Amino acid sequence: MIKNDLTAVKQIERIEQPTREVFQNFLSPRKPVIITGAMKSWNALTLWKTDYLNALVGNTQVDISVSQNSFFTGNLEHGFAKLKQKMNFIEFINLLQKDKSTDNYYLQQQSIPANFPQLFPDIEFPKYFDKKLLIDPTIWIGSGGNISPLHYDAMDNLFSQVSGRKRFLLFDPQQTSSLYPFPADSKIPHMSQINIDKPDFDKFPNFPKAKYFECIIEAGEILFIPVFWWHQVYSLENLNNKLNISVNFWSKPPISQFFTPPGRRFIAQLPKILKSALKI
Ligand code: FUM
Ligand code: FE
Repeated sequence: MIKNDLTAVKQIERIEQPTREVFQNFLSPRKPVIITGAMKSWNALTLWKTDYLNALVGNTQVDISVSQNSFFTGNLEHGFAKLKQKMNFIEFINLLQKDKSTDNYYLQQQSIPANFPQLFPDIEFPKYFDKKLLIDPTIWIGSGGNISPLHYDAMDNLFSQVSGRKRFLLFDPQQTSSLYPFPADSKIPHMSQINIDKPDFDKFPNFPKAKYFECIIEAGEILFIPVFWWHQVYSLENLNNKLNISVNFWSKPPISQFFTPPGRRFIAQLPKILKSALKI
């Protein structure tokens, strides 16, 4: 990402196995933080290698996103629907293991209890979110080189890294006007129009004002991404084992966050979301 005088890069703090009370010092003021040591008892950390995964879920049919250029992005016309290919999990793992492939493949954000119940016993809900507010945890599987371009989500996220490393750039919700989201009534209102690795400053003149945080998380670390924080995520190369695996724990956010700029955009989209859910 191009840096300049106005764009101060800040690091994200690491805390070792905090108590719920200590984590509250980040949850309440909506501050990202990296939690270390809290995944020690997960079986996934040692078990989730190719042979084990193939034995448990190899025959499961999965929707895989495909990209010709590393970026896993939606488009205005189709949202994310068009990029997916259906295949067996084992075929997907074989594609990830191939040394030379022109395309990149990504299993993105699929519900563990609904799609991979066999893997559910290998993870543990972190104690840091209120159990009543949780929704299904989701899994990401890919390899080094995959990039999830700048976007925000509508839930608090405890992003738990199981295998490989990921680099994050994070922008707080108040930076939204410098990040040029797609129109609120489009199919991808939560995504930025900017390629932040090669920004077009003529088209996006406020982008240099945006301040961001940067971090790399390792296997066994959990990054708290507060709702509506913008993030771009880079899967880094994993030389020992080509798999890059993460689990997201999602929690319904505090009402106050719907008054932030992205929160207001989300509220503006609700009639459309409702209409499509009710098919009217
Ligand atoms: O590629 C990723 O791991 C993206 C994660 C996210 O957007 O939450
Ligand atoms: Fe996200």
